[in-house]
Amino acid sequence: MNKVVTLNQFIIERQHEIPEATGGFSRLLHHLGIAAKKVNREVNKAGLVDILGRTGAENVQGEEQQKLDLYANETFLDELRASGECCGVASEENEDVVIFEEGLQRNGRYIVCMDPLDGSSNIDVNVSVGTIFAVYKRLSPLGGPAEKRDFLQPGSALAAAGYVIYGSSTMLVYSSGRGVDGFTLDPSIGEFCLSHPAVRFPADGRIYSINEGNYEKFPPGVKRYIKFCQESDPRSGRPYTSRYIGSLVADIHRNMLKGGIYIYPETESHPHGKLRLQYECNPMAYLVEQAGGQATNGLGRILDITPQDIHQRTPFYAGSERMMDKTTEFLRLFGTR
Ligand code: AHG
Ligand code: MN
Ligand code: MN
Repeated sequence: MNKVVTLNQFIIERQHEIPEATGGFSRLLHHLGIAAKKVNREVNKAGLVDILGRTGAENVQGEEQQKLDLYANETFLDELRASGECCGVASEENEDVVIFEEGLQRNGRYIVCMDPLDGSSNIDVNVSVGTIFAVYKRLSPLGGPAEKRDFLQPGSALAAAGYVIYGSSTMLVYSSGRGVDGFTLDPSIGEFCLSHPAVRFPADGRIYSINEGNYEKFPPGVKRYIKFCQESDPRSGRPYTSRYIGSLVADIHRNMLKGGIYIYPETESHPHGKLRLQYECNPMAYLVEQAGGQATNGLGRILDITPQDIHQRTPFYAGSERMMDKTTEFLRLFGTR
C-alpha cells in the first residue's frame, strides 16, 4: 500500500532534520494550511452565490457575507494570529501592516507578507485563483511589537514561501529553502497530501505567458522576445505555445511543472510593472529559484531588491533557465525601456 504523507506529517518530519527548529515554523505552516482549507471551502461555493446570496446579504447566522478576497484576508489573518508564531502581517488588502499586539503574538518569531486571494477577477468565471505567502524571521526584538523594518526585508532573507492554488484540485506548494514540495488537498479526508515531492522547474520550456493585449506598450526587448517565441524553428520547438490565465499563481504553477516563462514587464505608463514585490514577486521568485528556475526584474534577481514600501511594484520575469537566459539576452540587446 502506498504511504500517504500529509502536510502536517511532512513538516514535523522535516523539523527533525533542522537542529535549531523549535516547532514554531511547523505551527505557523499548520495554521496557514487551515486557512487555506477554509478559503478553499468558500471558493468552491462561489458559483452558488447567485442562489444563496452574496455581499450585502446575511447568512444563516445573521452575519453579513463578504467578498471572497476580504474573507480570505480575514481568514489568513485570524489563523496567523491564532498560531502565536506570527507578530505581524503585510497584506495586499491592508494599506498598513497589521501588528499583532497581544502578549503571545509579541513573542511570535515570524512575520508574513501575503496576497490572500490573487487573481480574484477570475472567481466569477470559475477559473483558478490563489493565495501567496512569504515568511520572514523578524528583525525586531521578541516581546515587543513588530516594526516596519521586519516587513521590508529583501527576498534573499526569506525563511519560507508558498502558494495555494484553488483549481481543478487544490494544492499547497511551499519551500523553506530545501527545494519545493507540493501537496494536493484530498477533500474526502480534508488533508493536504504530498503529491509533488521535490518539484523541479524544467531547464527549458515551450510556454510563454504574458498579457499580449499590452504588446504596443512593452519594452523593445520584450517585443522582440515575443516575436522570437512565435517564429517557426522546428529544431528548437518554435513556435512556442502562448498560455495566459491572468492568475499569477496558476500561470507560474503550470510553467513550473511543464517548463515555460512568465513575464509582466514594465511599460511606459507603468514603469514598475503591475505586480507587487513583497507579497507576489518575492515569494514566487523564491519558489521558482528553489525549483531550479530564475526570477528577475529584467536586470537583476528579484530576491536581491531592497524593498522601500510594502506595496511597491516591480517588473517580473520568471521561468525556465534557458528561456530566461534568452529573454535577458533580448533585454540587453534591445532594451527594457
Ligand atoms: P490581484 O487579483 O491580487 O489583484 O492580482 C492579479 C494579478 C496577477 O494574478 C495576474 O497575473 C495579473 O494581475 C494579471 O494582470 P493583467 O490582467 O493586467 O494581465
Ligand atoms: Mn495579486
Ligand atoms: Mn489579491
